[in-house]
Amino acid sequence: MKRNKNRIYVIGYGMKGNLSGLTIEAYRIIKNSTHIYCRVDCDPIFGQLKKLGKRPVSLYKTYREKLFQFKNIYEGIALYLIEEARKYKQILYLVPGHPLVCETPTENLINLSKKSNFNIVIIPGVSFMDAIFTELNFDPGYGFQMFTASQFYDKSMRRIFSPSINTMISCISHIPQQGLIKTEYEVTINFLNEIYPPHHEVIILFSSLFEYYKLNKEVTIINKLQHLQDIITKNRATLFIPSVEKKKLLT
Ligand SMILES: C[S@@+](CC[C@H](N)C(=O)[O-])C[C@H]1O[C@@H](n2cnc3c(N)ncnc32)[C@H](O)[C@@H]1O
Repeated sequence: MKRNKNRIYVIGYGMKGNLSGLTIEAYRIIKNSTHIYCRVDCDPIFGQLKKLGKRPVSLYKTYREKLFQFKNIYEGIALYLIEEARKYKQILYLVPGHPLVCETPTENLINLSKKSNFNIVIIPGVSFMDAIFTELNFDPGYGFQMFTASQFYDKSMRRIFSPSINTMISCISHIPQQGLIKTEYEVTINFLNEIYPPHHEVIILFSSLFEYYKLNKEVTIINKLQHLQDIITKNRATLFIPSVEKKKLLT
């Protein structure tokens, strides 16, 4: 890592939503930094940073007010952060959970940094995935597949997806992606109904938008998912679908 490069620390603050979920390394970096940007401002950490004497900037507000000019809002966040890092040499970008789990702006920052003179330093945090493994007493070492709902717009997913593997599906929105008519929720439900037996178990794990750190659980079956749209789309929700035994798939 060259010293003269501008630097963006991308810090995951874990599942607690507050300072106590930070690693000691992350806490030290925050204590010694001035320019701090948070992807969301609804978690308690935003107010706690102010009590520490910091002046965090909410990208939630910024990207609503300033970044709508960009075709892709996540690209907008990355470009905005690069601009800020150019001004201040070193900035911090804070996200819930882990910076590389379902965080498109992080991916965009990494791609942009390859083209410009920037270091992106990732500081991991506990992700919603860790919380789900814990809640379900599930060891991912036994194998699982993970998708974000937008992947189901792609018809070739049927060839890749295997119902005989434990499955996690995240980021299911009720707002259609730009230029598309169906919502992520609709394409996901259609896809699952085509693939699984109607009475196969599904576990919905969710928290309200303002309580990232509280994990609730609702156990249901595939053909009842369509009646649970509000739980799935009005919260931060993830579906966990246990594997189907091969012989059940054949009957
Ligand atoms: C943009 S991603 C952010 C994930 C974050 N970087 C992490 O590692 O936890 C948001 C998605 O994570 C999942 N998620 C976040 N919090 C959750 C929770 N408490 N329970 C279940 N799923 C959650 C949902 O699928 C939600 O749509």
